[in-house]
Amino acid sequence: MKHFYLFSIILAIVLVTSYIDAFTRTDFPEDFLFGAATSAYQWEGAVDEDGRTPSVWDTSSHCHNGSNGDIACDGYHKYKEDVKLMANMGLEAFRFSISWTRLIPNGRGPINPKGLLFYKNLIKELRSHGIEPHVTLYHYDLPQSLEDEYGGWINRKIIEDFTGFADVCFREFGDDVKLWTTINEATIFAFAFYGEGIKFGHCSPTKYINCSTGNSCMETYIAGHNMLLAHASASSLYKLKYKSKQRGSIGLSIFALGLSPYTNSKDDEIATERAKAFLFGWMLKPLVYGDYPDEMKRILGSRLPVFSEEESEQVKGSSDFVGIIHYTTVYVTNRPAPYIFPSSTNKGFFTDMGAYIISAGNSSSFEFDATPWGLEGILEHLKQSYNNPPIYILENGTPMKHDSMLQDTPRVEYIQAYIGAMLNAIKNGSDMRGYFVWSLIDLYEITVGYTTSFGMYYVNFSDPGRKRSPKLSAFWYSGFLKGTIDVAKDITQLQSNFSAGSSSL
Ligand SMILES: *[C@@H]1O[C@H](CO)[C@@H](O)[C@H](O)[C@H]1NC(C)=O
Ligand SMILES: *[C@@H]1O[C@H](CO)[C@@H](O)[C@H](O)[C@H]1NC(C)=O
Ligand SMILES: *[C@@H]1O[C@H](CO)[C@@H](O)[C@H](O)[C@H]1NC(C)=O
Ligand SMILES: *[C@@H]1O[C@H](CO)[C@@H](O)[C@H](O)[C@H]1NC(C)=O
Ligand SMILES: *[C@@H]1O[C@H](CO)[C@@H](O)[C@H](O)[C@H]1NC(C)=O
Ligand SMILES: *[C@@H]1O[C@H](CO)[C@@H](O)[C@H](O)[C@H]1NC(C)=O
Repeated sequence: MKHFYLFSIILAIVLVTSYIDAFTRTDFPEDFLFGAATSAYQWEGAVDEDGRTPSVWDTSSHCHNGSNGDIACDGYHKYKEDVKLMANMGLEAFRFSISWTRLIPNGRGPINPKGLLFYKNLIKELRSHGIEPHVTLYHYDLPQSLEDEYGGWINRKIIEDFTGFADVCFREFGDDVKLWTTINEATIFAFAFYGEGIKFGHCSPTKYINCSTGNSCMETYIAGHNMLLAHASASSLYKLKYKSKQRGSIGLSIFALGLSPYTNSKDDEIATERAKAFLFGWMLKPLVYGDYPDEMKRILGSRLPVFSEEESEQVKGSSDFVGIIHYTTVYVTNRPAPYIFPSSTNKGFFTDMGAYIISAGNSSSFEFDATPWGLEGILEHLKQSYNNPPIYILENGTPMKHDSMLQDTPRVEYIQAYIGAMLNAIKNGSDMRGYFVWSLIDLYEITVGYTTSFGMYYVNFSDPGRKRSPKLSAFWYSGFLKGTIDVAKDITQLQSNFSAGSSSL
């Protein structure tokens, strides 16, 4: 995540929000799940231990003279300690991902027994503490061998290999895992990695990256198409072979920016509808109705792949829930997108979308500003346009400089505002099922490494023991979950207890 600055936060709009909402855990349905998230490469470390082989993420981190996830939080060795942190906090669910190359080192074929054991142990540990696992199958860490063999997501061969990997996961873990997300934020994964060339994608040369391996104006949509087909294939396998016995559910997740017209002009309203088609409809229309939005078909013409009748049937209804990755809100205006691709024949995702986006937050501050009304807008849009699907917010949180204070009050205010927004949406009929803070602990972040972090626990990355310490947000979230604080009133008291070192979890 967090590569947003690339897409043009150009104008800062100061928005005065006073969004205080008093709520308690009991205002939410009992079976609603509150959790926190990590992903394999960002948390586990132990990259060449016990039979794991490199993914494209390892390769890309090692080609720059920067940081990497070789050790990260050392979650591979410290998972019991981390599950204990979760349990002490009162966390109800934990979202993590499975490292494909730890489980199946060659991408397909033999299973690595030690990798299998690690995930079985982790899941067992979670269950024994009453914490519901939510497993993401794919969080950017494609086996390097499959990238080398056929180019990964731009090749249809990925569908069979991904389904094979999913099959192993369902078979081995499915008795204890009831919630599966196939692909992490598939939309941004396709347009940022295969369009803008972020990290390990393919792309055409851009203003930012010397990248000549790909073809952005085609491959963004090809990769997206293959993701939908791979998701649908894994989902139908689950329904055919496992669901009746395991009784879980399976969904796809998308990156969801809050979208609002910049002015009340007709043009900006139409541009916002177009942005909704590109950012939500691109994946949600096929999942709910079996085909791409008409707007995208019209604009992209032959660059947008076509579903066969059989594929359309398979994709339609393949997501039991929609996973939302939400961080911030933008205003949309009907102007050409920033010029990313130097060649006029190359079109990027935002050029295709034909809209210019402006941060709705306050870019003078480092953190994301809470714009909870933007999330409410997304949830209302999904309710009205996509048959009110069950929704999990799989990531929501705000970055802070890694070495900033443990007293992360802006993060507390941010999370509080979004939980309040979610409650408003539930009261207005949205079928919300769960919420995960990104992230449980400080992680190796995708574009910023260890300089910026989202954790509710601080991790000392200079310490060989990778010591964890709770931030104020951990106390706040825990107090909310356990019902021991008044979320609207007790922040000052929580802060002073925290500074006095008298807080405990
Ligand atoms: C923007 O930053 C200023 C100064 O830090 C702050 O007073 C204001 O509330 C912020 N705006 C938002 C939307 O958070
Ligand atoms: C990598 O970075 C370190 C520290 O910034 C520097 O000392 C070293 O020379 C760099 N190595 C290369 C190969 O650029
Ligand atoms: C790309 O490479 C060219 C030639 O080596 C160089 O002049 C240019 O600055 C590079 N651009 C970026 C964004 O790195
Ligand atoms: C609440 O739901 C109703 C019916 O779907 C809708 O008309 C209304 O705009 C929603 N309110 C908000 C604040 O989204
Ligand atoms: C992190 O760990 C290093 C090495 O053990 C130690 O010197 C340093 O003081 C620690 N930093 C913090 C903020 O605890
Ligand atoms: C702060 O600490 C006092 C004394 O231990 C305790 O009674 C109170 O509940 C705490 N308040 C919060 C909000 O944690």
